[in-house]
Amino acid sequence: MADYGNGDAAQSPYQLAREHLEGRPYRWLISGVAGFIGSHLLETLRQLNQQVTGLDNFMTGHRHNLDQVRGVVGPAAWRHFDFIEGDIRDADACRRASKGADFLLHHAALGAVPRSLSDPVLSNDVNVGGFLRILTAARDAGVRRVIYASSSAVYGDHPALPKLEARIGAPLSPYAVTKCVNELYAQVYARCYGMETMGLRYFNVFGPRQDPDGAYAAVIARWLAAMLRAEPLTINGDGESSRDFCYVGNAVQANLLAALCGRPAAINQLYNIAAGASTSLNALYDMLRALLAEREPRLAGYLAALSPHHADFRDGDVRHSQADIAKAVSLLGYAPTRDVARGLKLSARWYAEHLAPLSLRGPTAARP
Ligand SMILES: NC(=O)c1ccc[n+]([C@@H]2O[C@H](COP(=O)([O-])OP(=O)(O)OC[C@H]3O[C@@H](n4cnc5c(N)ncnc54)[C@H](O)[C@@H]3O)[C@@H](O)[C@H]2O)c1
Repeated sequence: MADYGNGDAAQSPYQLAREHLEGRPYRWLISGVAGFIGSHLLETLRQLNQQVTGLDNFMTGHRHNLDQVRGVVGPAAWRHFDFIEGDIRDADACRRASKGADFLLHHAALGAVPRSLSDPVLSNDVNVGGFLRILTAARDAGVRRVIYASSSAVYGDHPALPKLEARIGAPLSPYAVTKCVNELYAQVYARCYGMETMGLRYFNVFGPRQDPDGAYAAVIARWLAAMLRAEPLTINGDGESSRDFCYVGNAVQANLLAALCGRPAAINQLYNIAAGASTSLNALYDMLRALLAEREPRLAGYLAALSPHHADFRDGDVRHSQADIAKAVSLLGYAPTRDVARGLKLSARWYAEHLAPLSLRGPTAARP
């Protein structure tokens, strides 16, 4: 694998990595491929002519995500994608999926802090038991490198801002525990079995195809859908909580850079993957409202009059979260190409186009 950390100044490490991939097909396994981030990984890798196997049991992912990627990449490119419907808790499914893979991009998990508070045993079974099974299958199959999704949740109650990889606090939820355990197992497998692993601590990833529905939907998808459908909208707390919202394209970039990075110092490390900026929920709400008012003039009146309901702070949520991304920048050559404003614009467009049948009901029909 080449060193993409030190690219020609004229070309970003990500451009170099993409050019390398265009000329050199590898075999990739994406677990959680029918989910939000997994489907974007699939889309980019197929556009770069990579051979991809996907593993998913549709627990929170959707067939329509895969259908949409097929629509984007086209039927010819789709032929080089093998899908295995299976569970990461099933050692056989993990073995079949890992066979022949150069890289594993592990993204199958049960996300959402509140879900883990409702059912900690299930979150542990999937996120820890499943992780261990797929990591073991990757080891046995001789997968060159495992990139796995960790989370900013591991920072727990540590008060320092911005978050630095080396300083984590006590976990605030069962979900956070599962991600801490993933990191420990990855480190132990590297030490005991000589595996190469890299953990990406994602901070509030958002973008097209993120599920807007259900009790555990993430805030940007949920609010965009609520505004487009003219449904009630809730802000948890006073709205001054803040997050480092990261457009999904940046997360894809981080995966590819991590997989191809040839620097020994970069391997078996943990990285914050974020935009490196802080946005309060109130600011986010204003940005989304302005974006949709401009995009969807028929909603402008409704959006101008919209007044969100404030609910209690959610258990297990931290007040502020912002990443220091210097480690990923220096060791991986990571350079977020979409800031929050640009990412929100791309997301608003996608949700407006894909939720159109519902929004056609018009603001008054669906108003509470
Ligand atoms: N989206 C974020 O903001 C964010 C932030 C931090 C960490 N992460 C982590 O990134 C990863 C991907 O998140 P996402 O937002 O794309 O979530 P997602 O729910 O859209 O995708 C997860 C996918 O994993 C699949 N899956 C769940 N359990 C499975 C099982 N037992 N066997 C096989 N497949 C299974 C689901 O069906 C789904 O397709 C997760 O590990 C998540 O914890 C995400």
